[in-house]
Amino acid sequence: MTIIEKLLQRDILVDPSLFENLNDQQRKQLETGIDEFTDEELEAFLNRGSVEILWSYTKKPAKRSYQDFVGHFNRRLEQIGGILRQRQELSAPQSIARLKADQRVAIIGIVWEKRETKNGHIILELEDQTGRINVLLSKNKQELIDQGKDIMLDEVIGISGQCGGDIVFADNIYFPDVPVTHELKKSPDDTFAIFMSDLHFGNKDFFYKEFDFFIKWLHGKAGSDAHKQVAKKVKYLFIAGDLIEGVGIYPGQENDLSIKDVKEQYNEFARHIAQIPSHIQIVMCPGNHEAGRLAEPQFNLYNDFAEEILALPNIHFVSNPSYVRIHRSKNFPGFSVLLYHGYSFIYYGNQVPSIFEKGGVNRPDLIMKYLLTRRHLAPTHTSNLYIPDPIEDPLVIRDVPDFFISGHTHHAVHDTYRGVTMINCSCWVPMTDYQRASGLTVNPGKVPLVNLQTRQVKMMSLRKEEEDE
Ligand SMILES: [Fe+2]
Ligand SMILES: [Fe+2]
Repeated sequence: MTIIEKLLQRDILVDPSLFENLNDQQRKQLETGIDEFTDEELEAFLNRGSVEILWSYTKKPAKRSYQDFVGHFNRRLEQIGGILRQRQELSAPQSIARLKADQRVAIIGIVWEKRETKNGHIILELEDQTGRINVLLSKNKQELIDQGKDIMLDEVIGISGQCGGDIVFADNIYFPDVPVTHELKKSPDDTFAIFMSDLHFGNKDFFYKEFDFFIKWLHGKAGSDAHKQVAKKVKYLFIAGDLIEGVGIYPGQENDLSIKDVKEQYNEFARHIAQIPSHIQIVMCPGNHEAGRLAEPQFNLYNDFAEEILALPNIHFVSNPSYVRIHRSKNFPGFSVLLYHGYSFIYYGNQVPSIFEKGGVNRPDLIMKYLLTRRHLAPTHTSNLYIPDPIEDPLVIRDVPDFFISGHTHHAVHDTYRGVTMINCSCWVPMTDYQRASGLTVNPGKVPLVNLQTRQVKMMSLRKEEEDE
């Protein structure tokens, strides 16, 4: 008996397009589980979104050696070098050790050193697997100087120019970047995905009132008529880390806690997340306030802490960073989502001159764009804590996502860069003294709502909504 026939036998009338839209994985789940589903469960199943984990880090921790760091950077050079080689100008790069004077050259390397000369030139020391060479960015070429100022150590770039023996005079700098041809994909149906991060459950100032409003809104019981219409169409919710406040994250934190036990903080989180309608698929990754290791990639939550969360039927827990695909159906390839908490953002906000001048850490949109152009989430060795991986550098942005989602700076902002929707999420706690002292401006209680059919992003301000009521 076909599934349609089985459904008819149970007097369940299904819009054929709903069934047609199921992907192979969902179809299999339905085939094997149909007899056990209650009618309500079945209806929820057919209406729920599709989530596939494309990449989530699961490698067991092992003792790391110096050689692992060497391997890690070699793999990065290969991975990002491969992206750069897709450009015609860099399709056949020369090895640095074999460069000869008075030749036109094209090279790909990792930035080992950078300095400015007294005369205003910039010298980069580039390294590949064969050697190192100095590259001169002349002060007479303003575009090169502007690009050179923003270049950070350990990123992988391409250079074309003239070799003058032990120095290359650069004509062009190439960044791996997002191809200009990357299209802004749109779903055929009217569905919404919503995004949040930095809930910090356990913090004494957590916005309970706003969170309760948010839950009511998702159940269609709060907000303006327009917002209620959106709530009905939400199928996906992403949470980009810092689920709980944690314990012992910074000195004196105990004074900021209403729940002093990590497991209890997670249970409080689970109790609140459980109130989200179960047809909404929830994808979440850890942040730097979580229990567990801080070095990236961070694993998904340890079972000991997450029992109650993982017991929820609509939860997909992934590593930080990770790639997830949502909303794939028979007629639509789905959207890929790169989820990264954003721990490295503070470094780039402070260190990249063009970002610093425009607001630094308060411009996560510029930081995200910068990292997309570098195709790496934290290229500079000192910009985050990480576990070297001699098989692959897990922080390389190997595939261009449709959505790049992060948090950590507690500053909600969004933009689009070459077909990639970049969203930095808001937070659910007020600004701390530490954030004030480090120049961060936070904008809490906002939820970005994304219409997957138009790719329009609207910020819903829950604090304002609450006041409006
Ligand atoms: Fe946070
Ligand atoms: Fe954080």
